Amino acid sequence: MLRSVIVGCGSYLPARIVSNQEMAQRVDTTDEWIVERSGIRQRHVAADGEHTSDLATQAAIRALASAGVSGADVDLLVLATSTPDNTFPATATRVQARIGMTGGAAFDVQAVCSGFMFALATADNFIRAGQAKTALVIGAETFSRILDWNDRTTSVLFGDGAGAVVLRAESGKGDNTDRGILSTHLHSDGRHYDLLYVDGGPSTTQTVGHLRMSGREVFRHAVTNLAEVVQEALDANGFEASAIDWVVPHQANRRILEGTAKKLGIDPAKMVVTVDRHANTSAASVPLALTEAISDGRIKPGDLVLVEAMGGGFTWGAGLVRM
Ligand code: ACO
Repeated sequence: MLRSVIVGCGSYLPARIVSNQEMAQRVDTTDEWIVERSGIRQRHVAADGEHTSDLATQAAIRALASAGVSGADVDLLVLATSTPDNTFPATATRVQARIGMTGGAAFDVQAVCSGFMFALATADNFIRAGQAKTALVIGAETFSRILDWNDRTTSVLFGDGAGAVVLRAESGKGDNTDRGILSTHLHSDGRHYDLLYVDGGPSTTQTVGHLRMSGREVFRHAVTNLAEVVQEALDANGFEASAIDWVVPHQANRRILEGTAKKLGIDPAKMVVTVDRHANTSAASVPLALTEAISDGRIKPGDLVLVEAMGGGFTWGAGLVRM
């Protein structure tokens, strides 16, 4: 049986850091309010002229280096973003050219904050079907470009960044029989389209638009949906929550992370948390957090890692990975 094994990862954050204090100079807010309601202390913001593809390319180069493979080895590139460089072509094709990937296929997927989960599941299924051998999965966003910087209810919550993983098809023979992505589980419910959306687009306003969110409603759905999909992933593999070594969740809000952990009976100390420094980087948040926890030695080979995310649409998903 073919399995997708995570053989490398990398991330990139723009140099400029915007603190809560700086946000308080733009909108009527305080560091205390932001920290108490969201856990966010700062966010990274892309420089003028620095685009989603630039962030994605840096993360991809680092992921390829950590996997010890070159761009030419990659036969599938799936890039999750809601902030593409252009309406078309896919941002993935720009990254494809920059990393020297000359064959295979590159395309974008769009599931907002769940984008990385959708991209990971897509690549995993290509590998399981025998249609790809080495896949690069990227989450990259420049949400700073779609924020209404005068809206205190949304502008304080998001940041820019990118993360990437390299997946390699392995046959499950030899010593590493249970290594790799064990399962992925995706959901969406379009009845909630209007609770988190961008009020522009090529087919509606012909403008890019700004992010709009009913924060309280999103919060309520997030904890319920995430707890359900995590339970689904555990049940599919016959695991109890206690079997999980690390949870790498989408980083939207510290209270969502804690609420979900509590509902599932997961020790909060097993959560990888970056929301304090990165804010919500949408599709980039899971691979950013995963890269951090692998690089600093928290996540080790053999660990059982749960990844999960929820975002606009609504969309949500979870996956279990044996590292
Ligand atoms: N600074 C100060 N006051 C603020 C700010 C701000 N930045 N933003 C809102 N307020 C005010 C509101 O105007 C309101 O004032 P009022 O009572 O006078 O009307 C008050 O604070 C409370 O507002 P609520 O929206 O009820 O605050 P809440 O406790 O729900 O926190 C928050 C808001 C942080 C947005 C929360 O609802 C949340 O995190 N929701 C989830 C949203 C999210 O994470 N989205 C990410 C995308 S989806 C995903 O990734 C899962």
